[in-house]
Amino acid sequence: MTDSANGNSSATPQAIERLTSSAERELEALGGEGEKLEAWRVKYLGRRGALTSILRSLGSLPAADRRVAGAAANRAKARLEGLLDKRLAASGTPGPIGAIDVTLPGRRHVRGRLHPSTQTIQEILAAFNAMGFQTVEGPQVEWERYNFDMLNIPPDHPARDSHDTIWIDRSGGDGILLRTQTSPMQVRTLESTTPPVRIVVPGLCYRFEATDATHEWQFHQIEGLAVDTDITFADLKGTLYEFARRIFGPDRKVRFRCDFFPFVEPGVEMAVDCFKCFGQGCRLCKQTGYIEILGAGMVHPNVLRNAGHDPERYTGYAFGMGPERIAMLRHGIDDIRHFFANDLRFLTQF
Ligand code: DAH
Repeated sequence: MTDSANGNSSATPQAIERLTSSAERELEALGGEGEKLEAWRVKYLGRRGALTSILRSLGSLPAADRRVAGAAANRAKARLEGLLDKRLAASGTPGPIGAIDVTLPGRRHVRGRLHPSTQTIQEILAAFNAMGFQTVEGPQVEWERYNFDMLNIPPDHPARDSHDTIWIDRSGGDGILLRTQTSPMQVRTLESTTPPVRIVVPGLCYRFEATDATHEWQFHQIEGLAVDTDITFADLKGTLYEFARRIFGPDRKVRFRCDFFPFVEPGVEMAVDCFKCFGQGCRLCKQTGYIEILGAGMVHPNVLRNAGHDPERYTGYAFGMGPERIAMLRHGIDDIRHFFANDLRFLTQF
């Protein structure tokens, strides 16, 4: 006769007690390794484990025996599980039994996100990439000749004053500085390529500036450059108009006004009609109905010449904008210093 057929001789309180103490002794003698503890668990508490078999066989006992043996077996099970949990906790292994408290609230996973500057830059680049502009990047530590001289800004040019340069080494003939604008990539690109050229250049720029709500000593710019034979001011207008519609909405109107930048001639400033009040006049557009977005112009013949190209053969346009400024306008951010303060209360809003 089998155990279960004769009522299972191991399912007596005494037998359970014996099994429990030998299991305890065995557990005590074990090292802390997770595999050994797991083997022990399988042996006693696993699906075919010794104690589990006893619990399973209880059903075939006479009712009175079943109650006594059942209580003993359940106590033994709780005790062995408890001991195992302690050992697992001590060995740093998460326990498979009883270690999961399903009533605990779930753990919150913090999702990463892109910085608002990065998000804005990516959107702007995507708009120009879709129009055939290639994204390139340049060095933040730059030669004075690329940042100024070759861009038609000679040493005594008043435009240098407004740039409040952070110098790294001014002792040589050609100084080394932190670029104050992304425009030097116009020259670098023209020097190393034969037009047609169509590029957009995102990157950090630096100025030795007292900071306030609209000035930061580090900020991004996105530069654009298109050079080919026969490029006209109409191309500039058409491209930047399309850009404005993509970024600020399909109903945008644009306005061009004369401005001065040494490396373009003529130079312009482009504004879009206020996307908050739709040109009616509000705080955002300072009651003017228009918001200035970027500087642009036709590449100055001197810049083409400096980079080794014949300005009689090639023409082009260039533009430059500040993505932080654009993000501020679009999201109603009141202080540019938020962008680099690394305050999560600000950053997690985007
Ligand atoms: N680099 C200029 C600045 O920092 C912005 C700019 C204006 C870039 C006109 C251009 C341009 O390419 O054509 O103020």
